Amino acid sequence: MTTAPIQTSQATQDTQTTPANPTTSAQQMLARAALAALCAGVAASPAQAADAGNQEVCYGVATAGHNDCANTTCFHLCSGLSQHDRDPTEWTMVPKGTCTQLGGKVQAAPLACHADAASDASEVDASAGASLYAHGDTARAIPACAACHGPAGNSETPGYPKLAGQYAGYLGEQLGAFRSGARNQPLMTTAARALTDADIANLSLYLSAQLPALGHAGATHSAAASGKPFRDCPDCPELVPLPPGRFVMGSPPSETGRFGNEKQHVVDIAASFAIGRFDVTFAQWDACVRDGGCRAYNPSDDGHGRDTYPAVNVDWDDARAYLAWLTQKTGVRYRLPSEAEWEYAARAGTSTARWWGDGLTRDDANYGPDVCEQQTNCGGYAQGADKWMYSSPVGSFPANPFGLFDELGNVWQWTADCWHDDYTGAPGDGSAWDAAACSRHVIRGGSWSNVPSFVRAASRAAVPTTVRRGYLGFRVVREMPEGEVGQLAKSP
Ligand code: HEC
Repeated sequence: MTTAPIQTSQATQDTQTTPANPTTSAQQMLARAALAALCAGVAASPAQAADAGNQEVCYGVATAGHNDCANTTCFHLCSGLSQHDRDPTEWTMVPKGTCTQLGGKVQAAPLACHADAASDASEVDASAGASLYAHGDTARAIPACAACHGPAGNSETPGYPKLAGQYAGYLGEQLGAFRSGARNQPLMTTAARALTDADIANLSLYLSAQLPALGHAGATHSAAASGKPFRDCPDCPELVPLPPGRFVMGSPPSETGRFGNEKQHVVDIAASFAIGRFDVTFAQWDACVRDGGCRAYNPSDDGHGRDTYPAVNVDWDDARAYLAWLTQKTGVRYRLPSEAEWEYAARAGTSTARWWGDGLTRDDANYGPDVCEQQTNCGGYAQGADKWMYSSPVGSFPANPFGLFDELGNVWQWTADCWHDDYTGAPGDGSAWDAAACSRHVIRGGSWSNVPSFVRAASRAAVPTTVRRGYLGFRVVREMPEGEVGQLAKSP
């Protein structure tokens, strides 16, 4: 099942308006006085708040020191608020009827109150949450949350709290309470009334993953910059320091080519770490063997190419032998990336299927045939910029926004994690998901022999720990001791 992104159109916003009434009755004078009081910043009384059904939401009733209510626009409760009214200081509640009495405009039909009951999304979908947050859904009378909570989810107005970066469970609970009326704030009750459980889950997931409120020094933007590449020795792999951050791991239900084991969830990478700018190359592997490391094992390149080609035909323990050698040689801890770290690095702040977007062409990465029914063992494919039938020298395709090459395509990369069929119970802190004894580990990124569905940031595969394959290599992670994290801050 797929969930189409919510489409909103300006046209559907422009619903009927009530023409101004030229006569002025005593009642209207009273209503005007009530509105003027609101214009002057008088808050709704607790009694008014409790009686949400007798209120309506108005826009244009006064910024501080500005008492002109002539352009007031109102919405009945249970109606969609306007998605283009973005100044949160100008929303307020008034007694029902105030608006029409004043000749103001009522923007949405009051009956547009029914939630789309048939919301069959069985999985959370951060992109649907993002769309609902930014655009709302006029058909279901759901306003854009961004109208009040700020375009980046971090409105500076105290009455409209920041939503970004809080825990999904907390946000979901708050929203659920607003919807059921248990938490009685008329504005938000209006905004939340038509939300389904799936909407709430999607919104909460999306909002919780937004970085601005997270408070990490290095991660004030959703795509915080990586640091300058460095290496610890001439033969050592080049490394790119990455900032800590929070991201949505996995793919939305709408993503083309996804598998059922990619359920979206939020992961917090609490500490900086450095990751290989490229996959480990044969030249680097061979240096390890010459130096007495790497189990004196000489992996075959299957005739595809050595030197700057990625080292392949290494199993999980071979890779760890290389990492142990690096650790011993440099005195800093090298290890395999956790599955979460790998995806964090591969996404580099993006949420599309691949860092450059949703599609895949021969200019983007080295991958296999576009179509192959049996899915695996499909052989290589060379065309256009992908002129290699098998693996390509590392760095032959564009780097992602973190400056990392070949995260997607070319060769699969080992991660530290044991294989789990889905993410139920996965750690949320970016650590590796181990098991006491596991015979299969997670590989990521897809390779020169894979169809596009495997060459995505979220795609995962399991292979026995002891296999050596010509499509499977690895990249290193190097831990960043506290004192070195300054390198991140100094980079442009
Ligand atoms: C008309 C303005 C307005 C709109 C639109 C709006 N909100 Fe709110 N929201 C508020 C106000 C005001 C509060 C504070 C009320 C309170 O805490 O009782 C609030 C509070 C919240 C809270 C509780 C935050 C906390 O930490 O206590 C959540 C969660 C929330 N809004 C989510 C949303 C979502 C999601 C949407 C879109 C579906 C949305 N809001 C649309 C005005 C709005």
